[in-house]
Amino acid sequence: MENAPDATLNAIEVQSLTRRFGALVAVDHLNFSCASGATFGLLGPNGAGKSTLIKMLTTLLPPSEGTAKIAGYDLVQHPELVRGKIGYVSQMLSADGDLTGYENLLISAKLYGMPRAERARRIAQALEFMDLAHVSGKRVRQYSGGMIRRLEIAQSMLHRPAVLFMDEPSVGLDPSAKRSVWERIRELRREFGTTILMTTHDMEEADHLCEMVAVMHRGVLAALDTPAGLKAQVGAEATLDDVFIHFTGATISEGGELRDVARTRSTTQRLG
Ligand SMILES: Nc1ncnc2c1ncn2[C@@H]1O[C@H](COP(=O)(O)OP(=O)(O)O)[C@@H](O)[C@H]1O
Ligand SMILES: [Mg+2]
Repeated sequence: MENAPDATLNAIEVQSLTRRFGALVAVDHLNFSCASGATFGLLGPNGAGKSTLIKMLTTLLPPSEGTAKIAGYDLVQHPELVRGKIGYVSQMLSADGDLTGYENLLISAKLYGMPRAERARRIAQALEFMDLAHVSGKRVRQYSGGMIRRLEIAQSMLHRPAVLFMDEPSVGLDPSAKRSVWERIRELRREFGTTILMTTHDMEEADHLCEMVAVMHRGVLAALDTPAGLKAQVGAEATLDDVFIHFTGATISEGGELRDVARTRSTTQRLG
């Protein structure tokens, strides 16, 4: 199997990685690693530095300091080799609504320099895998949110990257669409041994998909453990929501918006 998981290898090794924007330290000397084949979840309130971290790890943003090894390659020394090993699903929707699903995938195949002879087969496989074959000739504008996300994951996986980065893959999706995305993500790992680093606001998602979860807050990792380990750190009956509140002093509303705990608590008291 290509890219088979190897527990002895770290697919991601972050070394003192730092990004400043003027006086602001958005990512502050981070160190962590992610085993090959694992799914790593990054939780944290808005502004914690999650997207900045992902942009550095995908070579879209140069670090101010430090580096990381991705699939064995140094990010700062060999960004071009890193790019060949990764896929990226950005926080913003990136599929083109005026094109069909098939056409979007064809653009990605060309972008990744996939040989012409392989394109049709790989695209057909990707459509099948993401459960989109029946709508491949429809314009993406007519797709549901879950279908668009699945298409974007298909685009990012066409070249079978060893490491896949996803920035809030299920944000804005209804529960059943979310589940269809989760199921496909799990299948990707099973089939290809893909290592995944994803950010999320969704505790259930982190619990469901991730072996390791880091809570990021103000540019640093406030906690890093298995979901069960994190809960155990907070209390006997703790949920990942409690973990999030414990390590960031913040909570998240249904829409993914941040509220501070004090305000939510006072509202709760007022309501009853
Ligand atoms: N290009 C940029 N220029 C200046 N500040 C930025 C830029 N990108 C992000 N920031 C700041 O860095 C911090 C982290 O942002 P971001 O990584 O987007 O957080 P998250 O994805 O966790 O919400 C925020 O304070 C944000 O305003
Ligand atoms: Mg973000």
